Amino acid sequence: MKLLIKGGRIINPAEQMDMTGDIVIEQGKIVAIGQNLTADGGQVIEAAGLVVAPGLIDMHVHLREPGLEAKEDIASGTRAAAAGGFTTVACMPNTKPVVDNSILVSGLIQRGQTEGVVNLKIIGALSKGLEGKELAEIGDMIAAGAVAISDDGGHLDSTRLLKTGLEYTGMFQRPVITHSEDEELAGEGYMHEGAVSAMLGIKGRPAVAEDIAVARDIMLAEYANSPIHIAHVSSKGAVEIIRQAKRRGVKVTAETTPHHLTLTDEELKSFNTAFKVNPPLRSADHREALIAGLKDGTLDAIATDHAPHAFEEKDVEFRYAPSGFAGLETALGVVLTGLYHTKKLTLMEVIDKMSYAPAKILGLESGVLKVGAPADITIIDTEYKWDVNCINFYTRGKHSPFEGRNFKGKALITIVNGSIIMQNGEVLK
Ligand code: DOR
Repeated sequence: MKLLIKGGRIINPAEQMDMTGDIVIEQGKIVAIGQNLTADGGQVIEAAGLVVAPGLIDMHVHLREPGLEAKEDIASGTRAAAAGGFTTVACMPNTKPVVDNSILVSGLIQRGQTEGVVNLKIIGALSKGLEGKELAEIGDMIAAGAVAISDDGGHLDSTRLLKTGLEYTGMFQRPVITHSEDEELAGEGYMHEGAVSAMLGIKGRPAVAEDIAVARDIMLAEYANSPIHIAHVSSKGAVEIIRQAKRRGVKVTAETTPHHLTLTDEELKSFNTAFKVNPPLRSADHREALIAGLKDGTLDAIATDHAPHAFEEKDVEFRYAPSGFAGLETALGVVLTGLYHTKKLTLMEVIDKMSYAPAKILGLESGVLKVGAPADITIIDTEYKWDVNCINFYTRGKHSPFEGRNFKGKALITIVNGSIIMQNGEVLK
């Protein structure tokens, strides 16, 4: 049966298209884009006044399966994704056991098909057990369907191992995604090192720890001539290092997060563990550099680093709380409220950074609106006003630094492979 999305503002960064029109979907694919199209008895979604975009893609989430299901699993995490307007998520391998072999990659792909409600992509570990000593089964994992390789969750200390890993992944033209923070320098800190950490008496994680690691990682990628993707960039120094590397033609891409783009270390004065994250929320000068980096293309993508923890794990003294929080259900609201409505980013840029760019980096065929492409579509009301209430989240991670905030802009409908899986905030599967 056909599905017709009628009269929406179609935004398609792949072709810089911004027009009012209709989209027809049949058998999971887009079959027509144009004016005055008909449903031939099929279902019609009236989208006048709404934005119709390629489905949002989050290239950096932690779904905690296998082994850490008290924090999240594929069923709860992909429902949170659907609620937030995401049609594809790529999950990191810092699970128990670590996803460092092809059996686990295949198993997770299968779990995604049976338990997931959005497309699930798998990122395999670079080192066995994330121990940073020996390469994982990188070739086998890529053959099994892993879209990228990463030791995210922490920094890979061994320069030698990263060099070998990059030389190896370069053969497959799949990116290594790095969590770039020099652990020796940052490891004992709990927040950004600066005036606020000095005032609070909390040991800081200096921005230069990120700058050094990003510089090293980029130099190795340049040496190996292999693609590298820098995760959750948070420092102004890192932005400048990436900018210069791109000018030299290094195969580097980078993401930043909704929280680093809109929050600062001033929030930590509350000692609220919901603001504890790695890399940490930094001072306003860093935040402004991230926005400038997004604007000039130095930073390609916005990714959530959705890192849910069980409520009781975060509900402890600041020092003992794990880093990270849920991000999938707030990301679009944060970006539209904090960057689009404040005129820092255009809608075309928002959709590019949250769909088309991550699809290109991971080599996915989604992220575009074109005839023959998978019908992964997000319908957005940029004017919809809502309040964040973590208790209502689909994710098991009930901590968010945006709890209680008022947002303007929300995904109203999420369509995955031609099926409506979320409507008006309710996940239908
Ligand atoms: O704050 C974080 N939490 N940063 C990371 O890189 C990992 C994540 C987690 O897995 O909890």
